[in-house]
Amino acid sequence: MPKPVPPATPGPPATLLYNDWYPALRSDQLRGKELSTTLLLGIPLVLGRREDGRLFAMRDNCPHRGIPLSCGWFDGKSVTCKYHGWVFEPVSGQCMEIPSLTSRDPFPRKLYGMAYPCEERDGHAWVYVPEPGSGRIQPEDAALVTVPELPKFSSRCRSAHLTADLPCNVDHGVIGLMDPAHGPFVHQAWWWRKRASIHEKEKRFEPIPQGFRMATHAPSANSAPYKLLGVYGEPITTTIDFVLPNRRYETIRAGDKWFSSLTTVTPVTPSTCRIDVVGAWNVLYHVPFMTSILRFFGNMFVRQDQVTMIQQAEGLRRDPALMLIDDADRPAKWYFALKQARLDSAHTGEPMKHPMEGPVTLHWKS
Ligand code: FES
Ligand SMILES: [Fe+2]
Repeated sequence: MPKPVPPATPGPPATLLYNDWYPALRSDQLRGKELSTTLLLGIPLVLGRREDGRLFAMRDNCPHRGIPLSCGWFDGKSVTCKYHGWVFEPVSGQCMEIPSLTSRDPFPRKLYGMAYPCEERDGHAWVYVPEPGSGRIQPEDAALVTVPELPKFSSRCRSAHLTADLPCNVDHGVIGLMDPAHGPFVHQAWWWRKRASIHEKEKRFEPIPQGFRMATHAPSANSAPYKLLGVYGEPITTTIDFVLPNRRYETIRAGDKWFSSLTTVTPVTPSTCRIDVVGAWNVLYHVPFMTSILRFFGNMFVRQDQVTMIQQAEGLRRDPALMLIDDADRPAKWYFALKQARLDSAHTGEPMKHPMEGPVTLHWKS
């Protein structure tokens, strides 16, 4: 296991995007009659798995007097509050029992704790987070937005997950994720690329719903992992998508061999975030220890970003003026424009207006 990195004091907050799915925690943590807690977009959540396998996520406050529901009990079916014993069905949030009521008191039929739609994909418990103050969540609203999933191209594949907490807000996390120019400086390693290998690049980008795509292209010749796929002697292609609110999909294919990853930057609070990478692949399927090797290098890669962002967070606390340059920071500009377009659409009720009018070719060196 890599050494844990000490936390830094977080910098300024970011505006958050709601009405979408976010990965709350790893679903293998949810088993038996245990309850797990986490923070998602600043909301305290309690999660668990019903004995029928279904995941649930509730706000970790009893609607009666606010004590965390996670202080209570879960029997595989219902959650009982520790304070006065109210019993909740945790997928719907409905209160089923109030022990202090006598036969003379009518039972309040429509009494709910705040339950969030929760689905399991790729080992994450994904939670749908509505606009704050929008009341009880209608499952139909959540169903309008597809639960994100890592694309896989064959049934037999291996997979891994990496995670790192970042002391910066989600905006800095996302633009760091989409930033093409930091590679040769932050990720210097013999197996990846050297600073001296910097060369000019030209990439075509096109708008896609809620995001943009770096069009399918032959990958950079100066990166070792791509060379690894060269052993198959097939042409290698890679496609990278960014999709609001926080997702980067990368697909690398060489004939019927493939590597796919979904990286998300999730707001834990308005000023901190967490990066999660889920990857799946069928390349080098039979090479022993390949998962451990990829996990080792992947972890090293994610730690390099994490350490850099901890240092950046120190700088951001001093509230410096910042700038974004063309073309290397154009993906960051698109992210901010897309986010604003989505906030405007939520505000006006009009359909979201995509800030890109058509395909664009960018040039930078990395
Ligand atoms: S605070 Fe939960 S039942 Fe009273
Ligand atoms: Fe990076």
